[in-house]
Amino acid sequence: MKEAWEEIEQHVAGCTCCPLHATRRRPVMGRGDHQAALMLIAEAPGEQEDQQGTPFVGRSGELLDRLLQDCGLRREDIYMTNIIKCHPPGNRDPKEAEKKACFPYLKYETFLLKPKIIVCLGRIAAQRIISPDFKITRQHGTWTCRKNYALTATYHPSAVLRDPLKYELVKEDFCEIVKKLNSLTNDPGD
Ligand code: URA
Repeated sequence: MKEAWEEIEQHVAGCTCCPLHATRRRPVMGRGDHQAALMLIAEAPGEQEDQQGTPFVGRSGELLDRLLQDCGLRREDIYMTNIIKCHPPGNRDPKEAEKKACFPYLKYETFLLKPKIIVCLGRIAAQRIISPDFKITRQHGTWTCRKNYALTATYHPSAVLRDPLKYELVKEDFCEIVKKLNSLTNDPGD
């Protein structure tokens, strides 16, 4: 299994499947516990992530760490990744072709991890993973059951940085996620 993770990391490192490879500094592969039951999927690496090659190391990462901590989680216990692995110039939204080109990596990460819960952070991830017409304002915190995992979405940490009043909303969503995680991982019939 370790080899499979190394292999996908190497593929991502050398990927030229979309034009973003020409402008990225470093591709950003998902990081975290490869046994985690909880997988977070966000949109795309930002400036800082592009420099360091690690997801959520900038200001939104600091906020995410605070949210996790407030709900009794640590980033070492979860797995976090993005829909696309390369930083889009100027922080623009990823283009359809970029999301399509990168999707096999996300699919393979999910296959290897086999999470019990997937959380989409923000509209872009929710619309790619849950449903194209997902409305984050109305539908954050709601749950969908997929064959092998439970799926939900909440606001992206950068939305909370723009509007700090959203912090409590997102914290409530995360606390529900932790409750669900505990109920799924403590199931004696599991
Ligand atoms: N924003 C994202 O969507 N992903 C990161 O890794 C960092 C910031």
